[in-house]
Amino acid sequence: MKLNRRDFLLLTVGLAAGCQSGTDSIASASRTPRTINCGLAAKYAADGVYSDFKDSGFFVIRRDGQLFALSALCTHRKCKLSAQSDRSFLCPCHGSTFDPVGHVTEGPANRDLPTLSSHTNDQGQLIVSVPGW
Ligand code: FES
Repeated sequence: MKLNRRDFLLLTVGLAAGCQSGTDSIASASRTPRTINCGLAAKYAADGVYSDFKDSGFFVIRRDGQLFALSALCTHRKCKLSAQSDRSFLCPCHGSTFDPVGHVTEGPANRDLPTLSSHTNDQGQLIVSVPGW
């Protein structure tokens, strides 16, 4: 089959889009800073890692009475992390690991996970500010 220039361009753009959506990265999906309402802070009452907003780029974490948001994007190449049962994090792309507070425990990542700015509003809802990645 012979492709003309137009068909070739359509094919390569389509392949690139398909490849991109098939990755486990949100690097290209959300480059605009935004705030996300995570609902009532009371629903995160138990210590643990909540993955509800992983696709938005962060985990909600309750630890020792503190509620905060930790980036869910690996600092190596921004793949989405998986929370582990011991509350650490694993990157499925190249195997980096992070401890429960986001410190790198194994590379290739060499930067800790950032904590995202968050607060509880007057209605008791957790609001997280997500930077443009
Ligand atoms: Fe996480 Fe490479 S993207 S280790």
